This record gives sequence, C-alpha cells and structure tokens, in this order.
Amino acid sequence: MAVRKIYTYPSEVLRAKASSVEKVDDDILTVLDDMIETIDSAPESVGLAAPQIGISKRLIAVDLKDGKRYKMINPVIIKREGKHLSSEGCLSVPNICVSVERAEEVEVSFLNESGEKIDLKAEGLFAVVIQHEIDHLDGKLIIDFAGPIKRDLYLKKLKQKKEICRQL
Ligand code: CO
Repeated sequence: MAVRKIYTYPSEVLRAKASSVEKVDDDILTVLDDMIETIDSAPESVGLAAPQIGISKRLIAVDLKDGKRYKMINPVIIKREGKHLSSEGCLSVPNICVSVERAEEVEVSFLNESGEKIDLKAEGLFAVVIQHEIDHLDGKLIIDFAGPIKRDLYLKKLKQKKEICRQL
C-alpha cells in the first residue's frame, strides 16, 4: 500500500467525468487500498475519490475513523431523503470550508471488492461523505456550490491557511 499524491484545484482530472470500472481486478483493488492509506495519512480526512489521486475511475473510499471503512466501485445514489446543511472541506480544495446542502439520508448501490452488488443505507456524516465523493466522480467540487461572489472569495482564500474542517 502507498500514500498517493493529492491533485488539487485547478487540476483537470478533478473536472473530468470519471469512467465506470468494467472489471474488478488487482489494479483496482490496489488503488482502493492506496486510497484508504491516503485517507489515513491525513488527520481530517474521512473520504476520497479516485480523481483526487489522478485516476479518472468511479472509485470512492470512506474511512469514518470509527472503525468503519468502505471501498465502493461504480457507486450510484438510488434514493435520497431529507435535507442537511454540512460544512465541508476537501483535500483537493485546501484551506476552505464550504456550506453545502445535502440529503440527510441516502441509499447507495455499488460493487464491493469481490464484484458483488451491494445496496447500503447511510445517514449523517456517512451520507454526506458518499454524496461529496460521488460529486468528485462527476467533476463537481465544493466551490461549485457557492455563488459567483462567494466562489471568488473562496478562491482567494485558497492561498491562505485559515480554515480547517473535515476533509471529504
Ligand atoms: Co473532496
């Protein structure tokens, strides 16, 4: 396993639509293991999407740091319920926290490491992380949730080290 380099805004790979995984092979499993190790190497990090390490594939990893870890291949949200305002940071958009409206609960469908289809219900932080990481797979970043004026402000703030919040 290895800690991978994090690609940061405005890297192009963060804006691409990631492609679906056709076959769950050793390369994919290695990437997922490395994603977990990369999360573990960053204290505030609880989730990561493959484009953040420069790989444009539909892979996400979640480590809530409460003993639960998830590796999801081709994740799709099949149900959303409720609303929840969350303050989110991102290793790829460092030094800022953005308020984002998310669903309170989601149901996500994905393939596990054995290639089996799994449906899982998530709520609270877990649900937020899943939504944030799937946004990454579609080239969407937290700054996209702010209006143009606020976005300008965020982009100026990127260069200062001020805010610290949970990194998704
Ligand atoms: Co992120």
